[in-house]
Amino acid sequence: MTGSRPQALAEPLYVSRPVLPPLADYVADLEEIWASGILTNMGAFHERLQAAVQRRVGVGEVTLWNNGTTALVAALAALDLRGEVVVTPFTFPATVQAIAALGLTPVFADVDPRTGTLSPRAVAERITAATSAIVGTHVYGAFCDTEALGQLAHEHGLKVVYDGAHSFARRTPVFPAGPRSLGDVTMLSFHATKLFHAVEGGALVTDDPGLHERLTHYRNFGIRSEDVVAGTGLNGKMSELHAAMGLRVLDMVDDEIDRRSALARRYVRGLEDVPGVSVIAGDGASVQYLVVRVDARSAGIDRDGLHRELRGLNIISRRYFHPLCSDIEPFSGHPSAEHLPVARRFSAECLALPLHGSMDSEVVDRICAAIAWHAAPAVRGAA
Ligand SMILES: Cc1ncc(COP(=O)(O)O)c(C=O)c1O
Repeated sequence: MTGSRPQALAEPLYVSRPVLPPLADYVADLEEIWASGILTNMGAFHERLQAAVQRRVGVGEVTLWNNGTTALVAALAALDLRGEVVVTPFTFPATVQAIAALGLTPVFADVDPRTGTLSPRAVAERITAATSAIVGTHVYGAFCDTEALGQLAHEHGLKVVYDGAHSFARRTPVFPAGPRSLGDVTMLSFHATKLFHAVEGGALVTDDPGLHERLTHYRNFGIRSEDVVAGTGLNGKMSELHAAMGLRVLDMVDDEIDRRSALARRYVRGLEDVPGVSVIAGDGASVQYLVVRVDARSAGIDRDGLHRELRGLNIISRRYFHPLCSDIEPFSGHPSAEHLPVARRFSAECLALPLHGSMDSEVVDRICAAIAWHAAPAVRGAA
């Protein structure tokens, strides 16, 4: 299936495109906000969105935040951590930056070769007397091994935090079953690149009522009452304008999931015979991203080469997660950054392809044909 030389798309096609409600609907919400005179500080739209996210998540207690990164910083701060935090290198920089922002030391542990999520065995080797927490990222559609990491944390008296920035891009249940599936707390991102978004936004989900209460105050400068302010806190509040967008987008999420799932199935079919290119997140789970792994030896082209060739055709793929967080200054200076072969391979081989509900299925066929053309030069030469 190599076909003829692929032609460039007329316009650049990006990895993601935000779900947008009809403008008139959002304008109606803005009129309501204008009339109320309440723009932020946990107004009516905020409260409605928080309740709606809580219903969809179905477990724990939810706080909304102005973005996922602030939420993560607040979660780590509210857990009052010290010293070292064992973290995956195969994640978005925000995960590691949140740890460093609090003066904690990120210590990297390698990932599982099947899922790209933090390997409990690798974590166990990094735990020292200075370790206070484990931070794992749920990667694309795959969850961390929450049971094994929870057990490890229990044995060593550690906290567990999950970066679940991608987790909301699936039908319910959002999280796996099990008493340890949230860790102490899990973060969600509602950034515009995410399937469900509030332009900017995020959430924390915890089933620890004491932590939930601390987080609600932390998000608002630590204010507990007119007279009592805790020394720690920040401004993590989601505005009414963002919450209104979130409510509108939430109504559209299931349709978007269905459309993306159909496109993901088409990608899987279109790429099944391409040597060295395999879809690692497609049907059935999260449809936040459609990610392929490129094995340069079988494909005859490496991931970066394919990324460049696709860009030349106006198909804007994304190397996600690249660079590896353990290669970013100053984190690269830590001894744990040196030997992370599995994560390094994921970071060198993974490529996110365009996936959003407004795409035509015929465009997926063109992308698959373009990949087949570039990934099978030997076959093409023989044809
Ligand atoms: C894995 C991961 N963690 C953290 C973030 C940061 O979230 P936010 O942009 O909401 O701050 C993102 C993406 O934006 C992400 O993909």
